[in-house]
Amino acid sequence: MKPAVFLTRMLPSPVMHRLKTLFDLKYNNHDRPLTKTELVRGMRGRPALISMLSDPIDAGVIESNPRLKIIANYAVGTNNIDLKAASSRGIIVTNTPGVLTDATADLTWSLILTLARRVPEGDRLVRTGRWTGWDPTQLLGTDLNGKILGIIGMGRIGRAVARRAVGFGMRLIYHNRRRLPVRVEKKINASYRPLSRLLATADIVSLHIPLTPETHHLINRRVLGRMRSTALLINTARGPVVDEKALADALKHGKIAGAGLDVFEDEPAVQKGLITLPNVVLLPHLGSATIETRTKMGFMVIENIQSVLRGKPAPDAVNRRPLKEPATAGAE
Ligand code: DGY
Repeated sequence: MKPAVFLTRMLPSPVMHRLKTLFDLKYNNHDRPLTKTELVRGMRGRPALISMLSDPIDAGVIESNPRLKIIANYAVGTNNIDLKAASSRGIIVTNTPGVLTDATADLTWSLILTLARRVPEGDRLVRTGRWTGWDPTQLLGTDLNGKILGIIGMGRIGRAVARRAVGFGMRLIYHNRRRLPVRVEKKINASYRPLSRLLATADIVSLHIPLTPETHHLINRRVLGRMRSTALLINTARGPVVDEKALADALKHGKIAGAGLDVFEDEPAVQKGLITLPNVVLLPHLGSATIETRTKMGFMVIENIQSVLRGKPAPDAVNRRPLKEPATAGAE
């Protein structure tokens, strides 16, 4: 008998094909996220759930299915899942690290370039028929060559962004929870800075940190006030890392020069103050959105489910060793 799996959104067709071949697959075939009631109903009695970053998998959802063994999140971030609730019930949570690193780094650079060279403004000018011809002072952007890129979060994606900076002749500084070994710093040509110094010196600040209680609103009004008035802020990590209202105010009042955002605090809603500003580029969470990457992510999800349902360790488990039974006194 094929194992029963519930999938909350349709995935690229090579992944759907493999899922249908390997599993007794039930899935949401509407082009929208499920409500909590639909999600709970859909996953009932199934040992495997494939969730999206847009599905809140809280304790209530987890507890609704006593047969659940694995939540395979189709994303690298797992902030949408109550990991504690999953662990306490012996449920493995997995993610998709590595395969989306390059796609997300590429998208970060598309935001940097479009913002620095005012690409959306130029596109709008041409499309709306308001372009009257070449103009020596029209839509002047800013050079990247020789400028300072400040990366906050030097994990896989931060480093991939750093590697690409070399090609654009940028100088690199970074901040990370833990400073990298000097040999790694040398390899990626980046110098460590305390957060406040990075913010005060970088021409472009790019965020590559996970969303945790510690990083929520890391970029707030006070922090934005420390940035250069000519600086650009890029966020391809998670929306709530930035206080969006404070960012809209900072942009409006010229405290910083621009922002490129792929993620938002309350997706798909976007702070109204941001929509009308010309100095922002807004994307609908496209970090991993290439056919190759989304296909690889799907295959990783499948591998993790197969391992867990065969009683093997999941290659990409993110929660600590789940506790099947509550720990007893004296247990390690
Ligand atoms: C992730 O996997 O966390 C990315 O945000 C997806 O685009």
